[in-house]
Amino acid sequence: MLYETQGPFRSLVDVQAGTVDRSIYADEAIYQLELERIFARAWNFMCHETQIPKAGDFFLSFIGEESVIATRDKKGELQVLLNSCRHRGNAVCRAEEGNARSFLCTYHGWTYGLDGQLIGVPGYKG
Ligand code: FES
Repeated sequence: MLYETQGPFRSLVDVQAGTVDRSIYADEAIYQLELERIFARAWNFMCHETQIPKAGDFFLSFIGEESVIATRDKKGELQVLLNSCRHRGNAVCRAEEGNARSFLCTYHGWTYGLDGQLIGVPGYKG
């Protein structure tokens, strides 16, 4: 069932009673619309800066279904990076959280800085 208007959604929330229909949490069509209309189009809250206080601190999270790395770079700036190698899309971080100097793709060894810049490709000069 596709929801093309706000009408069906309004009927799922009873503000007076303070109840929400469970389909909001489980309906695949609603979920796909959330991905399309919210997570793919709007700013997403990622974290409070105190969660990654030191350079290299990081944790994995999601924006919609995209795995992302929230980290603090060497300049102290917060960064949110797609957890995907630009070579062939392999994840560049597998730990849930920690502290790192860089992110290494284990597929072919490309390395990314804390700001997301590509900083190493094995055999590049050769
Ligand atoms: S997929 Fe990451 S180095 Fe090849």
